[in-house]
Amino acid sequence: MKELDALRSELMTAVKDAAGLDELEQIRVSALGKKGRITGLMRGLGAMNPEARKEAGQALNALKNEVAEAIEAKKRTSADSELDARLTGERVDVTLPVRPESQGCIHPISQTIDEVVAILGEMEFSVAEGPDIEDDWHNFTALNIPPDHPARQEHDTFYLPGSGDDDRLVLRTHTSPVQIRTMMETKPPIRIIVPGRTYRCDYDATHSPMFHQVEGLVVDESTHMGHLKGCLIEFCRAFFDMDDLPVRFRPSYFPFTEPSAEVDIGCTREGGEFRIGHGDDWLEILGCGMVNPKVLENCNIDPAKYQGFAFGLGIERMAMLKYGIPDLRTFFESDLRWLRHYGFSAFQVPSMVGGL
Ligand code: DAH
Repeated sequence: MKELDALRSELMTAVKDAAGLDELEQIRVSALGKKGRITGLMRGLGAMNPEARKEAGQALNALKNEVAEAIEAKKRTSADSELDARLTGERVDVTLPVRPESQGCIHPISQTIDEVVAILGEMEFSVAEGPDIEDDWHNFTALNIPPDHPARQEHDTFYLPGSGDDDRLVLRTHTSPVQIRTMMETKPPIRIIVPGRTYRCDYDATHSPMFHQVEGLVVDESTHMGHLKGCLIEFCRAFFDMDDLPVRFRPSYFPFTEPSAEVDIGCTREGGEFRIGHGDDWLEILGCGMVNPKVLENCNIDPAKYQGFAFGLGIERMAMLKYGIPDLRTFFESDLRWLRHYGFSAFQVPSMVGGL
């Protein structure tokens, strides 16, 4: 018994003086672990006679519980004080002013593409893509623009050096070749839009050698001009966020559509001020038409069974009109002051999509 009293007071003092969680754990192992001192004494019980074993067993059990409880209690207070020490040591002063950090913003071209895709996506178009470097056949011939066609001159094409005359490689002059790629790869019904970069050798306030277009293509068994008109009127009104925006279709010519049309929206130009909406003037914004049967045939689609409509619009032009940006070249000058002025917050849900 004396021996136990001495062990008790030794262990209790050690627990009381322990400096932290690690030290407490060491004490626990040395007393109560597999090779611990109390465990060792308990093992010795077996060799005692029943009377002595009962008495010693009770005393050892009491000591074991007492030490275990003391260790647990001390562990709790140690953990609390260790946390307190950390909290005071690592205090954060939330009243300090924030560091001057600049936030990036979305380029108006990306924003405009997102808006166009959001509106047409709601109309169940899916997005398709194609290569920037095209061959002559996809960019021109399959679209019913044969080699001697005047439309080829209008495109101010960048030809890649080294490619042969028959099937020259070009930087695509429009997104229309993706119509061909899609029709060659998939069977109707087709309902796609194609946002992407396009290239023409031209540079002034309304032209840049690299610019962006969005192409649209629908091919199905009963597609007609009414679908084309409904889709594009809806699109223009949603894009410019004006439910009653006047939209008109003016006859035009594109080799890959028949009939072809240009879409104008209403505007006013009074006293040097330009405004989209009601007025007595019109502004051309995109080209469209019913897919020329020759184009369907070039893609092995039977024009007796399928019809389609297509459209193409210039992203820079749409962005300039919607956001009042006067010079197209500024889109690509990488001037951060310009971008901060015309850019969009990355944390805004695609906005300005009216009517949806
Ligand atoms: N590819 C034409 C261009 O770049 C735009 C265009 C007009 C596309 C009419 C079309 C369309 O799909 O039907 O000028």
